[in-house]
Amino acid sequence: MTPPSPSVGFRFAGTGSSLPPGVLTNDDLAVGMDTTDSWIRERTGIGARHIGSSTSELSTEAGRQAMQRAGLGPADIQQVILATTSPDYICPGTAPAVAHALGLDCGAFDVQAACSGWVYGLVVANGLMLQGMDNILVIGAESLDRITDYTARDTGILFGNGAGAAIVQQDPTGAGRILGWDLGANGDYVHILYAEHGNVLQMDGKEVFRQAVVAIQRTTAASLEMAGLTVADIDLVIPHQANVRIVEAAWKRLGFDMDKTAMILEKTGNTSAATIPIALADSLYRGRISQGDKVMFIGFGAGMTWASVIVEWNGDLTGTEAW
Ligand code: COA
Repeated sequence: MTPPSPSVGFRFAGTGSSLPPGVLTNDDLAVGMDTTDSWIRERTGIGARHIGSSTSELSTEAGRQAMQRAGLGPADIQQVILATTSPDYICPGTAPAVAHALGLDCGAFDVQAACSGWVYGLVVANGLMLQGMDNILVIGAESLDRITDYTARDTGILFGNGAGAAIVQQDPTGAGRILGWDLGANGDYVHILYAEHGNVLQMDGKEVFRQAVVAIQRTTAASLEMAGLTVADIDLVIPHQANVRIVEAAWKRLGFDMDKTAMILEKTGNTSAATIPIALADSLYRGRISQGDKVMFIGFGAGMTWASVIVEWNGDLTGTEAW
């Protein structure tokens, strides 16, 4: 069970995102596998995914934007947390290279919690702020094209590359705190979505679908309970996006409204740990978030892992269009 947590007041001082220029459309995929654009759109909601660039390159661009928007220089950032399931190397982590590229010499480490990673990172950042840090760069970034077989009819249609970032900054006024959060995992489901060393992603799509819907319901209920809120109190939900039908199935059970949901996957596919921060920057760009709004992030993915955070928005209102 998740313990109730104190939260420092904080602001999202700046956000950013980056997608590589290479685009793989459904029609492109149909050249190498038995599929069609209409099948993929109808069964997943995905029209295209981006490929190319490395996790560190995409992270650096998203992080650079977030620092610029926050008006912060290298000396101001005290920690880099990089959520990724497709690091540049097995060893070392990718965060130190990103910190170096941004001119930082603070602590830097990777979080590997698959598609839930950025939300895990946000909770970790809150803990580090409770320990006195002021500015923390939390990035979610993937180069999933390195571990995806684009001729496989299950995984090949889903995954793409990208990065999103946010700087969370301690705010002594006490505004913008985390109202509720939940982190969870069940290692009994390793076998339904995994990649072995040197190999591509393997997936039991139907079981992942089923378990994802269960995980979303479970983590949403836990965070809402901690926050003392109901579904109706949430102004905008930013869920992880693997297949639009997963979100729709969970929303039907929870009572969330698609109109209050930030969806980007039609043009990005599933970018794992990067999806939520890319969608956050895009929501700000589109003016979908106002000061004081209750914004909920919901992650789920391989592990299985799941994670959710509800924040009262405080911070920068500019953003980056996802594409
Ligand atoms: N293109 C065209 N037809 C396809 C296809 C493709 N890419 N993949 C499967 N099919 C066909 C099958 O051959 C089957 O045909 P049949 O009915 O004639 O036998 C039919 O479509 C249904 O196949 P199925 O494997 O049951 O598809 P599905 O509805 O389970 O959809 C996924 C497959 C991968 C889209 C779906 O399982 C999924 O999205 N799961 C969740 C994955 C996920 O979220 N992963 C990341 C988690 S973070």
